Amino acid sequence: MKRIITYGTFDLLHYGHINLLKRAKEQGDYLIVALSSDEFNWDEKQKKCYFSYDKRKQLLESIRFVDLVIPENNWEQKEQDIVEYHIDTFVMGDDWRGKFDFIRERTSADVLYLPRTPEISTTQIKRDLKL
Ligand code: CTP
Repeated sequence: MKRIITYGTFDLLHYGHINLLKRAKEQGDYLIVALSSDEFNWDEKQKKCYFSYDKRKQLLESIRFVDLVIPENNWEQKEQDIVEYHIDTFVMGDDWRGKFDFIRERTSADVLYLPRTPEISTTQIKRDLKL
């Protein structure tokens, strides 16, 4: 059983997110999403979520590509998550290209950056709707 993990906020879930999750799941058999908590988003990314953590989690859990949702509470937890959940591949969108290459050296997991879906983002939706 090949186990995949990905990290993100996934606020105002959109087709760019679904595309990412679908392709992440295709890398293996079991997909874990580490979902940024509201506090982590605000304190570390200066992002205010429209949907609360619980709502974003509920949406992700209803997607057939997603097997488990865990909280992302800090930048440092990745190595521990990889060991704890026996992760084979760490997947992120290519807006993060290069940023997590250290995981390859420090863990047994492979690191893969998938191309982002063009022309859609939560920031863009918020801007267009003036949220
Ligand atoms: N993602 C993607 N294609 C998009 C938007 C997001 O592949 N068009 C991916 C990101 O690369 C990341 C994951 O989806 O791996 C979660 O991204 P997130 O930052 O939550 O979504 P964005 O829409 O990029 O949100 P924001 O505008 O707030 O950064």
